Order: sequence, then structure tokens, then C-alpha cells
Amino acid sequence: MRVVRVRVTVVGRRRFPCLRTLLLLAALFFLCLQLHVSNLTSLQTTSEPTNDSAVILSMVPQILHKFLTSKPRNATKLLNGTLSNNTELRGLSIPEILRSIQKYNGAQTINNEDIFGPVQNDTIIIVIQVHTRIVYLRHLIVSLAQAKDIETTLIVFSHDFYDTEANELVQSVDFARTLQIFYPYSIQTHPDSFPGQSNGDCPRDINYQQAQILRCTNADHPDLYGHYREAKFTQTKHHWWWKANRVFGELEVTRNHTGLVLFLEEDHYVASDFIYILRQMQAACSLACPQCNILSLGTYLKTYNYYGDSKKAEVTPWISSKHNMGMAFNRSVWTEMVSCARHFCSYDDYNWDWSLQQVSQQCLKSKLTAMVMRGPRVFHIGECGVHHKKDNCESTAVISKVQRVLANAAKHLYPSHLTLTYTTITKKTKVRKGNGGWGDTTLTCDFVNTQV
Ligand SMILES: *[C@@H]1O[C@H](CO)[C@@H](O)[C@H](O)[C@H]1NC(C)=O
Ligand SMILES: *[C@@H]1O[C@H](CO)[C@@H](O)[C@H](O)[C@H]1NC(C)=O
Ligand SMILES: *[C@@H]1O[C@H](CO)[C@@H](O)[C@H](O)[C@H]1NC(C)=O
Ligand SMILES: *[C@@H]1O[C@H](CO)[C@@H](O)[C@H](O)[C@H]1NC(C)=O
Ligand SMILES: *[C@@H]1O[C@H](CO)[C@@H](O)[C@H](O)[C@H]1NC(C)=O
Ligand SMILES: *[C@@H]1O[C@H](CO)[C@@H](O)[C@H](O)[C@H]1NC(C)=O
Ligand SMILES: *[C@@H]1O[C@H](CO)[C@@H](O)[C@H](O)[C@H]1NC(C)=O
Repeated sequence: MRVVRVRVTVVGRRRFPCLRTLLLLAALFFLCLQLHVSNLTSLQTTSEPTNDSAVILSMVPQILHKFLTSKPRNATKLLNGTLSNNTELRGLSIPEILRSIQKYNGAQTINNEDIFGPVQNDTIIIVIQVHTRIVYLRHLIVSLAQAKDIETTLIVFSHDFYDTEANELVQSVDFARTLQIFYPYSIQTHPDSFPGQSNGDCPRDINYQQAQILRCTNADHPDLYGHYREAKFTQTKHHWWWKANRVFGELEVTRNHTGLVLFLEEDHYVASDFIYILRQMQAACSLACPQCNILSLGTYLKTYNYYGDSKKAEVTPWISSKHNMGMAFNRSVWTEMVSCARHFCSYDDYNWDWSLQQVSQQCLKSKLTAMVMRGPRVFHIGECGVHHKKDNCESTAVISKVQRVLANAAKHLYPSHLTLTYTTITKKTKVRKGNGGWGDTTLTCDFVNTQV
């Protein structure tokens, strides 16, 4: 038997020259094969795959290429120089965006329900937090399109940036039911008022005394490291909290929902068996792990060994930095979480996952216990996160590698059963000081939801 051992590196792209060569050869091989088999249009575009995007494209079925190409966009002006009244053709004003957001959030239109039928109480709901990195979102959609049973799910796209191209992309999804929701307190729509940055806000780096002299709005509330709030860092946590409340508490379609809600982000990428695995984990929970209340489809690894690990799931206390990718839980768990809103919203940390860990440790009656797949079914393809500055935020190097990992793991996916291992943390987990970034006059999330 052959052990499939593939390494993925998330940062460097110069580290595996051999792998790279192999990749190119493999891609070339596939291209030739394709050409041989069909006399297709790619004849015109068949230059040698000399870069990532060509390799990546060669690994995506032709029929899904439509999700990877953006339509050419017209300038904002018409031929005669006037602004078009067609909002599709021009940059939108904030009032227009707010009106659109209101319209979408009010209508709660479920697309493709006519094809796939109504959402059931146990339908798996996939909620994707979408910011502006549309290149990654395109690849996430491609990966979702290839997942088995995707047509049984409802995919909720939760946006904090209103954008015509993103809307068109989401509306072109034809393989599952979809719903778009829009975070209504975004920086895009609140560029100079809370929760965006307002004129009266204290600059991040002035000290307490200077702030007192300036009498800036949040002078009395620096974070625990003495810095003042920066809107762009707080938006993600606000959005996360808003969308979870929206999905569990407010949407009509989820009113009677008791099934799993899976949380993804725009720069994730799923394996084709992730829904199958979720159902298996759910079954394993009710059979063998009553204390498990949160499922995690992946963890951050440098090396994957699907031969050994594809069916292994670990039961472990939930740790934010390890288990925040591809998390799923149901309404009863959410109800516990939401009763700890004060903890989530007042914990001085701008990371939603660290805040959730605080909730787990300081407030929940039954702490979060995760069942985590050792062979990940969700990958992080974003080289450049919201908070990390790197030269090339559109880089697709990791995507290519994840494609290869999954291609090589193919015969180890869809395991017939799961094997559980139990990890108990003997060391008492210390209550951590937050990462800061959250100091403000408004240490609650009340403004982002109407239900709490
Ligand atoms: C090959 O080309 C012919 C004629 O152009 C076309 O009818 C046929 O559908 C093509 N086959 C494939 C597999 O694309
Ligand atoms: C990579 O290939 C694509 C299409 O094959 C092309 O559009 C793009 O310009 C290439 N990028 C680089 C950096 O060569
Ligand atoms: C873009 O503008 C040209 C004329 O300037 C027009 O012919 C074309 O249809 C427009 N494309 C779209 C997508 O609106
Ligand atoms: C756009 O709408 C305004 C008012 O509704 C109207 O006066 C104007 O003529 C319109 N412009 C075009 C190009 O249709
Ligand atoms: C789902 O709804 C059906 C009736 O529509 C009900 O019989 C069933 O018990 C519900 N399942 C759950 C898990 O709530
Ligand atoms: C929820 O359940 C109630 C009572 O069974 C039913 O009347 C209502 O239509 C259901 N709502 C949805 C959205 O399924
Ligand atoms: C929701 O999750 C909890 C914790 O895993 C579990 O005990 C409960 O049975 C689940 N509820 C449903 C309706 O599946």
C-alpha cells in the first residue's frame, strides 16, 4: 500500500521546486489528454501552463470555469458622458447601497428553491462571511460546486461590502440554494460614523493623557494595551456576531431549523466529501460523544497524511486558534452562546474566535468540546488575510497546492466510518488576556442585532 503524503506550505512558494515541476508536468499531461479527447475551444488558449493560474484552471472542470472569470466591466460613464441611471454600470452612492442592502435583507430571497425544493429543518446551512476578496470567493464557490450533496444545502453569503461583481457571482450559483444577507453597519456604509471611524474618534496611538486633553469620543476607553479602536479591525468580529444572530434568530427560512450551521469564510476551500463528513460526524456525536457540541472540519497543518488520517476525528476542548476553520453547530448550542453575549462583546479582543473561546471558558455551562477531522476538509487559501499585509493579496499559489493535496487524497475521502480519539488537556487552560483592539465606548454588540 502506498502512503500518500503531501505537504502544503502556506507561505513560501519557493520551497518545493520539485513539486512545482511535477505540478507543471501533471498539468501539461492533463491538458494534452484533454486536447486528445475533445476538440475543444481551449485550442486557442492552449499556451503552456507556465503559471499558477493556468495550472489551477487545468484542475477545474470546464463547466465551472464560469465561476472563475469576471465579466469585463464598463466604465462609469456612458458614451455621451453622463452617468448612467443603471446602477449596475456605475459606482454606487452610500444611500443607494443602503437601499439595496435593505431591499435584500427585507426580501430574504432564496435562489434556486424552485429547482432544489424548500429548505427543511435539518438542511445543512453553510454561512460564508464575505468581505472583498472575490478571487478567493470564486475558488471557494468552485470547490463547493464539486462537493457531493451540495444541492441539499442552503448557502448563505453574508457580505460586509456591497459590490456588483460579487452579487453577480453569487447570483450565478446554480448548484444549490443561496441567500445573500448584508451586514448593515459596514465601514463601506459608515465611513465616518460608528462603527466606522468617525472624526471624533481618538487616534490609535495617542496615550491616555493626550486623549483626555483632546477629549476625543472614546478617550476614556483605550484597549488593554493603551491603544484606541481602529474600525477596520473591529468590523470582522461585529460582522461575525451579526450574521450568527441573523441566521439563527431572524431569518424566516431558519425559523424551525434544528440542523447544523457551518461557518466558512471567503478564503476557504472545501474537500468534495465535506458534507458527507459532516453527517458522519453528526452521527458519531450522537453515538459516541454526547459532550461534543461543535464540529470542526479542519485544522491548520503543514503536512497532511490522508492515508492514515482521513477517517480520524479527534475529540478535544475547542481551541480558537486551531479549530476556527469550518466550524459547525446547531441552534441549541447557539442559544447557549448568545446568552453569553456580554462576554463575547466586552472581551477586549478584536478576534471573534478568541472571543468565542472566552465565552466557552468563562460563561458556557458546558464548554465547547470539538470533534475535529485530522485530515482537513476545509483549507485556508487566503495568503493575505484581512489583517496581514503581504505584497500580493491576490496570490493563488496555495490554491494550486490544495488542489493537488485533494487530488492525491481522492481515494481516501468518503471513509466508511470515523475513528474517534480523545484528547484531554491536562494542563489547566489559562484565562488569556485578550489581544486588544476592542476598547470603545460601546462595549456591547447591541447595535449589531435587534434580538439581544
Ligand atoms: C467537436 O467539434 C464538433 C464540430 O466543431 C462539435 O460538433 C463537437 O461538439 C465537438 N466535440 C466536443 C467534445 O467538443
Ligand atoms: C498566467 O496565465 C494566465 C492565463 O493562462 C494569463 O492571463 C496571466 O497573465 C498569466 N500570468 C502571469 C503572471 O504570467
Ligand atoms: C459597454 O459599453 C459598450 C459601449 O460603450 C456597449 O456596447 C456594451 O454593451 C457595454 N457592455 C456592458 C456589459 O454593458
Ligand atoms: C436619470 O434620472 C434622472 C432623474 O430620475 C433624469 O433626469 C435623467 O435624465 C436620467 N438620465 C439618464 C441618462 O437616463
Ligand atoms: C422536522 O420537521 C418535521 C415535520 O415537518 C418533524 O416531524 C421533525 O421532527 C422535525 N425534525 C427536527 C429534527 O426537528
Ligand atoms: C415553522 O413551523 C410552523 C409550525 O409547524 C409552520 O407553521 C411554519 O410554516 C414553519 N416555518 C417555516 C419557515 O418552515
Ligand atoms: C444540537 O447539538 C447538541 C450538542 O451537540 C445536541 O445535544 C443536540 O441533540 C443537537 N440538536 C439537534 C436537534 O440535533
